[in-house]
Amino acid sequence: MPVTIARPPSLRGEIIAPGDKSVSHRAVMLNALSSTGTARVTNFSPGDDCASTVEIMRSLGVSITREVGEAGMGDSLTVTGVGLNGLQEPTDILDAGNSGTTTRLMSGILAGRDILSILTGDDSLKSRPMGRVVDPLTQMGAVISGRANNMLAPLVFHGGSIHGLSYAMPVASAQLKSCLLLAGLRADEPTTLTQPAESRDHTERMFSAMGVNLTKLGLDLVLEPSELETVDVEVPGDISSAAFWMVAGICHPDAELMIRNVGINPTRAGIITALQMMGADLTLIDEREVAGEPVADVLVKTSQLKGIGLEGDIVPLLIDEIPVIAVAAALAEGETVVRDAEELRVKESDRIQASISWLNGAGVEAIGTPDGMIVPGGSFIGGGQFQSCDDHRLAMSLGVAGLISTEPITVLDPDVAAISYPSFWKIIEELGGMVG
Ligand code: S3P
Repeated sequence: MPVTIARPPSLRGEIIAPGDKSVSHRAVMLNALSSTGTARVTNFSPGDDCASTVEIMRSLGVSITREVGEAGMGDSLTVTGVGLNGLQEPTDILDAGNSGTTTRLMSGILAGRDILSILTGDDSLKSRPMGRVVDPLTQMGAVISGRANNMLAPLVFHGGSIHGLSYAMPVASAQLKSCLLLAGLRADEPTTLTQPAESRDHTERMFSAMGVNLTKLGLDLVLEPSELETVDVEVPGDISSAAFWMVAGICHPDAELMIRNVGINPTRAGIITALQMMGADLTLIDEREVAGEPVADVLVKTSQLKGIGLEGDIVPLLIDEIPVIAVAAALAEGETVVRDAEELRVKESDRIQASISWLNGAGVEAIGTPDGMIVPGGSFIGGGQFQSCDDHRLAMSLGVAGLISTEPITVLDPDVAAISYPSFWKIIEELGGMVG
């Protein structure tokens, strides 16, 4: 059912960020492959994407139980590891739903095994590039086929065996990096990866906690094949979900929002750097460490924003947040130019085209470029009815736009927010923004 959001007179409150999606996927996958027992994963991401990972691991014979968490905290899982070579042949096709992370990381796990497995997902997932993982996994010795000359899911993993690889990654993708590191655990020799730029390093951090010998030299990673030791994980709050409230808080004319338990891993925190460059009144409070990941509470207040340039190495550190940064850019004084973000075109939707389309529809001048966008700024966001293109981050960016726009914004397909943040619309309601 569509939802309509209108700007409340003031925006105040406290929000607890839901468990991080990227860390949650990895906590399940890595503990499922461990050879030392049972791990507890707390504050697990409530979104559908991570549920896809859990279901796939169960289909491969991993025992996972899920308990509902206390108010404000995510569910807790217990995951019993089967060891690197203990996965069972699934009796059916594995369904990753909308989750690119599930598909690409599981590809590294399923490659080169003596079981047959088939991995697929929804229409969006079936249109996303998989050649980037199939090519290097094939070079490692895996036998994989897929649609469109092995470029698209469904992907079929036939067997083979895994050898170490020295590989220069063509894209700064944590999904690709993690896929190859997961495959490399079972290789017969070390795997060396050269990254074009830094991307989120949750896999590397968890590997270290699980006793894996992984060395980082600049942007190069060298992995020794290794067993994994079980590790309990308290999942930090998701900065990509918190980003929506950060932008709402700095853009609303009378706002003060406290967002609790936000993961601020430097390879994810590009949004904080970008908003501070824009002049945001954003303060990190009580910086601490949770399960090897830095965490803080984030206080945001009404701010005078200015346009900025985003390009180069910062882009992979905020890639998922660009659709909501575009909302802030519309209101900022002066132009915001995003470059080097062509990856946005192959996310859950073409996020450049989808963002420009709704911004233009809401009266904001903005143009898409092959690798980014130009938002002239100094504008107001008007109202209207919009589709999210079945993309959770687009739907939630529209929700934030509704909290600060001059006229109400109707999101015609809000349910897709459940991919990463099922309680998003309930929080909009609690903040006084839901009018229909
Ligand atoms: C993710 C990595 C990013 C990001 C995605 C989650 C991960 O993708 O967009 O939402 O958990 O590794 P790429 O690494 O492919 O850019």
